[in-house]
Amino acid sequence: MTWVSACKLEDIEQEGAIRFDHGGRTYAVYRGPDDSVYCTAGLCTHEAVHLADGLVMDFEVECPKHSGVFDYRTGEAIRLPACENLKTYPAEVIDGEVRVALG
Ligand code: FES
Repeated sequence: MTWVSACKLEDIEQEGAIRFDHGGRTYAVYRGPDDSVYCTAGLCTHEAVHLADGLVMDFEVECPKHSGVFDYRTGEAIRLPACENLKTYPAEVIDGEVRVALG
């Protein structure tokens, strides 16, 4: 597992997400309502749509295509048509910088 710098905390809105590409793969990095940060695979498990383009509310992200919903803390698919969970990755903030552990 390798920790990489994804962005600054201020680059992500509270209850927001950004797309982060690294090593030929795409991820979504989230900032929760309490400023905690999380990272998941970037593409919806239903079809390959970028979740960072979706709507973040509380600790959930709604897919922009068919409104499937995931809990981005655990990756759990909680509303159809999303039924396969998202892969999650550790994330942390150090000195205002968001780092994620990939691989
Ligand atoms: S592509 Fe995300 S719910 Fe269909």
